[in-house]
Amino acid sequence: MDKIIIHGGKQLKGSIRVSGAKNAALPLICAALLAPGPHRFSNVPSLRDIDTIEKLLASLGAKTHRRDDLFEIDTTTVDQFEAPYDMVRTMRASVLVLGPLLARFGRARVSLPGGCAIGARPINLHIKGLEAMGAEIELDHGYLNARAKKLKGARIHLDVPTVGGTENLMMAAALAEGKTVLENAACEPEIVDLARALKSMGAHIEGEGTDTIAIDGVPSLGTLDYQVMPDRIEAGTLMVAATMNQGDVRIAGMISADLDALIAKLRQAGAEITMEEGAVRVRGPRRIEAVNIITRPHPGFPTDMQAQFMALMTLAKGASVITENVFENRFMHVCEMQRLGADITIDGNTAIVKGVRKLLGAPVMATDLRASASLVLCGLAAENTTEVKRIYHLDRGYERLEEKLRHLGADILRIPE
Ligand code: EPZ
Repeated sequence: MDKIIIHGGKQLKGSIRVSGAKNAALPLICAALLAPGPHRFSNVPSLRDIDTIEKLLASLGAKTHRRDDLFEIDTTTVDQFEAPYDMVRTMRASVLVLGPLLARFGRARVSLPGGCAIGARPINLHIKGLEAMGAEIELDHGYLNARAKKLKGARIHLDVPTVGGTENLMMAAALAEGKTVLENAACEPEIVDLARALKSMGAHIEGEGTDTIAIDGVPSLGTLDYQVMPDRIEAGTLMVAATMNQGDVRIAGMISADLDALIAKLRQAGAEITMEEGAVRVRGPRRIEAVNIITRPHPGFPTDMQAQFMALMTLAKGASVITENVFENRFMHVCEMQRLGADITIDGNTAIVKGVRKLLGAPVMATDLRASASLVLCGLAAENTTEVKRIYHLDRGYERLEEKLRHLGADILRIPE
């Protein structure tokens, strides 16, 4: 298992390009199940989660081929309908095959995900929505057995604006009979990307990016040739890195509008952020100001940036309050940050971070994807050496992060443990 070694305290400078978005690519690749034929995606990041979804679709009978950022998949030969426990356990986004399989083949068997490092993360709303569309779903030895002769459009109110639920239901509704309306739908940019891709296949969708999405089902869809959107969370992580290390970094290819909430908070923390042709330039302050954040569904402050923002606040002047509203257990990075000298107290879903003058390098262990990124950020700013272990979490969602940071001047190495 690899680990990352960081000698902190280097200023970050230069230009870097963000990769394609993991959380857009995963549902997009599942959408290929909706129509037989060869589908083609570009700007697909090279990540463990993409390997997992490729393996899952191959196990369903699809033929896949990858070269650099190109991902080709032919779903004509799909003849299996099961997402097994081992894959769903490795990556919860595997449940995104449920909607497409049910819509095209009338059947799917998907393992129920079980617990997760950041919260309970049930998929009850995916199930409820599909049942409202006429699916019959029963739990069978840990698996959801789903069947539907033909899904029917329905008006579905989501109790919380679930990202994966909105995606699963949008894909299912694209091939359903009649009109589906999703109320209290998620508004994340990745939903908009998926809607755009589905429309390019011939789907009729309106309202994506708002909390009400209307989908008029069509009898069949065409194939996809689609470029995945840039990764806003990778971009945000690099923005925090620049802010923390008195950096001067140009991040190319990112969509700044997708990160409005983060950009506003980074500016309050003292970062100078300017929009340039095709890039965003971030200059870090000499002293970071303390800023409070509350995570919320988009367009609120993203939960996927909470750990990284906390890393920044560990070095702020004064105290900040960080409230996690989306997942109930997303503070696993706190104990590790404390090992580096951070002063953080947790009270329920709130963390009070009192900024310290410096962090001191130490061995730390990653517990989930964004937690790993936050520990790398702390290591970049800490004195002496930080070792981040269990970085397979990082490899799920960041493409060559250490190479990109090294390119910006960080002293960071990956070594096999
Ligand atoms: C997506 O997860 C992302 N994953 C997550 O990114 C992200 O943190 C999350 O959205 C929130 O933005 C992918 O896109 C692959 P949700 P998802 O359903 O879809 C509750 C990362 O680090 N809920 O929007 O699983 C749930 O428990 C990851 O890249 C229900 O109650 O998240 C949570 O509290 C981690 N019932 C809230 O909704 C349901 O049926 C939001 O979850 C579904 C969800």
